Amino acid sequence: MRSLSSQLHLDHSSTDLSILLNCLAVACKDIASRLQQGAMAGVLGSAGEENVQGETQKKLDVIANDILKDYLQDSGVVRALASEEEEDIVECSKLGNYLVSFDPLDGSSNIDINSMVGTIFSIYETTAGGDISSQDFLQPGRNQVAAGYVLYGPSVMLVLTTGNGVKMYTLDQRIGEFMLTQEQVSIAADTKEFAINMSNQRHWAEPMQRYIGDLLAGQDGPRGKNFNMRWVAAMVADVHRILCRGGLFTYPWDQREPEKPGKLRLMYEANPMGMLIEQAGGKAYTDQGPILDIQPSHIHQRVPVILGAANEVDACLGYHLAP
Ligand code: F6P
Ligand code: MN
Repeated sequence: MRSLSSQLHLDHSSTDLSILLNCLAVACKDIASRLQQGAMAGVLGSAGEENVQGETQKKLDVIANDILKDYLQDSGVVRALASEEEEDIVECSKLGNYLVSFDPLDGSSNIDINSMVGTIFSIYETTAGGDISSQDFLQPGRNQVAAGYVLYGPSVMLVLTTGNGVKMYTLDQRIGEFMLTQEQVSIAADTKEFAINMSNQRHWAEPMQRYIGDLLAGQDGPRGKNFNMRWVAAMVADVHRILCRGGLFTYPWDQREPEKPGKLRLMYEANPMGMLIEQAGGKAYTDQGPILDIQPSHIHQRVPVILGAANEVDACLGYHLAP
């Protein structure tokens, strides 16, 4: 069995990147232990923890954000961070060489039903020595040096890429370490399974309506096969399923708010998941082109997302290109 730190050493991750990834792993172990406290996490916290105060019950996504912020600010290797829970970027160490964007608790409405949630993160290198601003974060996902997530499910898993394939680690609760449990994660090019929030159907663009309509038509429709549907309603869990057993996941463009083209956030949802999916041999697109090639305009920007099995993503894009 190999631990996360030994694997990072073997993967030749720079010392600072290893420090950063280990630090993220520790923060997520802390979050995992709070999640296990469930409804009691806000009022209990752990002894000596200063950001959980007496009877002031914080929501778990705010607690997760505070935990990540504390650990990353203290790591000494992070220049600044951006979080779904923070309007602006947060400056960390002047000497840090990394920018970290994260969704502290993706799918947090699942907390209320004791279902799966996760922490998603995206890491860039920076040479910004003097002043730092959100402009420094606005780099295409292609520039990410590492990306991943921690899934808080029946077991706690860390899924990570440093640009050389995707590895999965499982938290061994007995010793408190993430252990390597799967290497060379790979997504089959074909699938018979898709994930979408069907209740939004009437709001999608016409090509997406046609594509999903053809999947639902099954064996007798133009696709000639029966498709199964799954929807956890936490992107982290839906993408985890795709990395484990294939499929297509989409949160498409929606006509209700044309200025917000999609629900998911580019910097800390679509980009890190896009890098993982590409590193596992899948495809990650908007309805216009590869997610990782988008030049971001805002740290909280939203984009449509179509990702997963390469041939199925192509099939979906085909509807968008067809006249
Ligand atoms: O972070 C946004 C998010 O919670 C994703 O994790 C998830 O895929 C989606 O929203 C769920 O949206 P809906 O409420 O439409 O099912
Ligand atoms: Mn989210």
